[in-house]
Amino acid sequence: MLPARRDQMPSGKQEAFRSAFGIRHSAITQMQIGPIRLSSPFCQAGLAGYSDRAMRLVARRRGCGYAVTEALLDVILCNGGEGLRKSIDINDEDHPIAGQIIGSEPETMSQAAAIMAGAGYDVIDLNFACPVKKIKNKARGGHMLLDVQRAVSVMKAVRDRLGDRPLTVSLRRAFDDSPQAEDRFFEVIETAWSLGFVAARVHARTVEQKYFGSARWPFLTDLKQRYPTKTIFGSGDVFTAADAVRMYRQTGVDLIWIARGAIGNPWIFEHAARLLNNPDSEILPPTIAQQREALIEHFQIAMEIHGESLAGRRMRKMGIKYSRFHPAAAEVKHEFIAVQSLRDWQNVLNRWYASESPGVWPNDNAADEVNSCEPIQAN
Ligand SMILES: Cc1cc2nc3c(=O)[nH]c(=O)nc-3n(C[C@H](O)[C@H](O)[C@H](O)COP(=O)(O)O)c2cc1C
Repeated sequence: MLPARRDQMPSGKQEAFRSAFGIRHSAITQMQIGPIRLSSPFCQAGLAGYSDRAMRLVARRRGCGYAVTEALLDVILCNGGEGLRKSIDINDEDHPIAGQIIGSEPETMSQAAAIMAGAGYDVIDLNFACPVKKIKNKARGGHMLLDVQRAVSVMKAVRDRLGDRPLTVSLRRAFDDSPQAEDRFFEVIETAWSLGFVAARVHARTVEQKYFGSARWPFLTDLKQRYPTKTIFGSGDVFTAADAVRMYRQTGVDLIWIARGAIGNPWIFEHAARLLNNPDSEILPPTIAQQREALIEHFQIAMEIHGESLAGRRMRKMGIKYSRFHPAAAEVKHEFIAVQSLRDWQNVLNRWYASESPGVWPNDNAADEVNSCEPIQAN
C-alpha cells in the first residue's frame, strides 16, 4: 500500500538531529526545500542502480536528511503495469523524498510527474543532467541544456499539471564549456525560478565531461551568490564527509548532494554532521560490528524489494564498496565478487564481519570507481 503524502517533516526531528550532533543553529542556514524542513543538509543523491529504498533507508538511519530516487523513465511510469509497480517504491520511513523523472516530451513528463506525486513523493525532480549518450540522443537528461525550448516546455507542462507541488530540477553547470552553453544554463535555471521551482541541484561538471575531470566548485559559489535566496544543492566530487563539509562551507550552497561518496558508506551522513559542528571532532571509521549491521540491514531490505536473485546481484556491487572499510579490504572484496547466493553472502559476513574490531579508512584504490548513470528501465 502506498504511504500517505507528508508535506512536512516534524520540526522536532530537525531539533533532534541538531542536538544529537551538537549542531548550533547558526551552523545551518537553509535546510528547507519549499515547505519541507530537512533534518540535515546532507542528502542521498539519485544514483541509477544504487539509490533504491534499501540504500536510502540505510542512509536515513545514519543521519541522511533527504533522498532522491534514481532517474525513472517517464514512459515506463506512463505505461503502467509491472514497470510502474517496480519504479514506485517508498514507505513511511522513506520521507522526505524526491521522485526523479527523466524524459523528453512535455506530455509524458507531466503525466509521469503526476503519477509520482499521486504515489506520495514529496518533491518531483526533473533530471536535465544525465550525460549518458543513449539518454542525450533521445533528447533527455543533459540534452535539455542544449535544447532550452524543450526544457522550458517540459518545466511548464509539469508545473501546470502539478499545481503548487514542490518541484526541483537537476542540472549540470552547462552542456559544455562554450559561452553559449553557459547562457543556456542560465535560461533554464531562470525559468525554473520563475515557475516557482523550490530548488535546483547543480552538478559542477559539464554534460560533456560526464564523470571525468574535476567538478568546478567555484561555479557553485558564484551561483549561490547570484541567487542568495534560492535553495541550491551542490554536487560533484563529494567523496568523503570532509568533502561534504568543505563544499558546504566553501561554496555556501544550502544542501549537499552525496552521490558516489555514499555508495557503501552510509556513515558519511553522520560523519559530515559531526564535522560540520566541530571540524576538530575525531571521526573513526565504522567498526566491523557497525559494518555488519549496515550490510545486514541493506541486504534485508534489498531482498524485500528485489527478491533473492536480483538483490544478490545488486548487493555484490554494494558489498565491494562496503569492503573498503575492512582491514582485509582486498580479500573481502574478492569474496563479495564471488557471491552467488544468500548462503554465500551469509558466509562472507560470518567469516569477515563477526568481530568487534575497528574498521579502517578506505585506501583510494580499494574498490573500482563507479562512473555511469543510466536510468532503470523497469527494475
Ligand atoms: C552510477 C551513477 C548513477 C547515477 N545516477 C543518477 C541518477 O539516476 N540521477 C541523477 O540525478 N544523478 C545520477 N548520477 C549523478 C550523481 O547523482 C552525481 O551528481 C554525480 O555522481 C556527481 O557527484 P560525485 O562526483 O560526488 O559522485 C549518477 C552517477 C553515477 C556515478
